Order: sequence, then C-alpha cells, then structure tokens
Amino acid sequence: MKMKLVFASSNAHKLREVKELLTESLSFDFELLSPKDVGFGGDIVENGETFEENSMIKAKTLFRFCGIPTLADDSGLCVDALGGAPGIHSARYAAAPGEGNSPDLENTALLLKNMRGKEIRSARFVCAVSFASEDLSFCVRAACEGEIIDERRGEGGFGYDPVFFVERFKKTLAEVSEEEKNSISHRGQAVRRAAALINAAFGNDKK
Ligand code: IMP
Repeated sequence: MKMKLVFASSNAHKLREVKELLTESLSFDFELLSPKDVGFGGDIVENGETFEENSMIKAKTLFRFCGIPTLADDSGLCVDALGGAPGIHSARYAAAPGEGNSPDLENTALLLKNMRGKEIRSARFVCAVSFASEDLSFCVRAACEGEIIDERRGEGGFGYDPVFFVERFKKTLAEVSEEEKNSISHRGQAVRRAAALINAAFGNDKK
C-alpha cells in the first residue's frame, strides 16, 4: 500500500519539485497530497522568526488537521548586500505591511531596484524542511549559493530564479532544467536529507 504524505504548500511549482525529489529519494511508494487534497482551506499564520520555525508551524498545523504525516518547507532568498533581506519575507517582499504575498514579478523588480549600484552581489536561497507525524518530527536546512544579476534572465522556475545566477551552470536558475535546479537547489538538498530520515523511520527497502 502507498504511504500517504502531505506537502503543506499550495505553491504548484514547489509541489512539483518536491514530488520529483521524493520520487528519487524515498525507498517506498507514496502518494503526495496537497492541503486542498486533504480538505484544508485555512490560512496558516507564519509568525515564526526563522525558516525553521515557519516550516514547523506549517507541518504541525497540517498534521494536526488531517493526521497524515506532513512535510513542509519554508524558503527564501538572503542577499548579503541587503543585510539578509528579503529572507523570511521573500514571498511578500513588495507587499505593504499586513498584506499577503506579492507577485513574483513585483518582488524581483523591487530586488533589482534595491541592488542597483551594489558591488557585492552574493546571495543564497535557504530552505528549511520540517516533518511532523505521530512518532517523528524533525527539521533540516540547506542553502544554495549564487549571485544577484542586474536583469531577469530565463523563463523557467519561479520566484527569484530569473535573477539568481549560479556559477556551476553559468546560468540563472530560470535558465536551467528542473533536474539541474533540483541537483543543487536549497530545496533539493533539504528534501533529500529529509527523505533519508523518513526512509530510516518508515522505509522498507521495497525500491
Ligand atoms: P514560502 O512559500 O513562504 O516558503 O516563500 C518562499 C518565497 O521565497 C517564494 O515565494 C519565492 O519568492 C522565494 N523562493 C523560495 N524558493 C525559491 C526558489 O527555488 N526559486 C525562486 N524563489 C524562491
């Protein structure tokens, strides 16, 4: 029987990336459900101060709601020249205080504006992945290093991918394939670490 797992995000891009990553890494068959699939329509207040806290808030909220082991990520872009901003506010960088998330295009436009004239371009995507279930809960974190360029390049990916240049590919994350992105990305590394821990607890070496 397939094990049910919830991924506590309604971001279709993230859901696809995580499904792909878990398929590669989990040692057993699974069915990945979204919050909508389990009938969760509520808003989760992400009032933690770190990626770790916010991912655990999401994982625990969904697990308490449906009783199905739940994974959640919280991720964002930390730019050195901006003191680590937008950080945990990445999804709502261009929004007024108290408003919800702002569109990707507006967030990247604001980032490019704030980076105009800055010499130090280093940045990293950070991802915390939390897992909540009856017997096991944990949080892992990973980062992907890059540089903020001064214009958008590429049509793939989402969020800040078009302005995030990775030395390894000499391309932005919006110009590489999904497989290439997953091989180095913050989410790729964090999900693979989480999958290893889930395999140790639930795996049956069927694959
Ligand atoms: P979250 O859904 O609260 O974790 O917000 C994450 C935000 O960080 C997204 O809305 C994007 O703006 C940004 N972000 C996280 N991961 C990525 C990525 O892989 N590529 C581009 N932007 C990302």
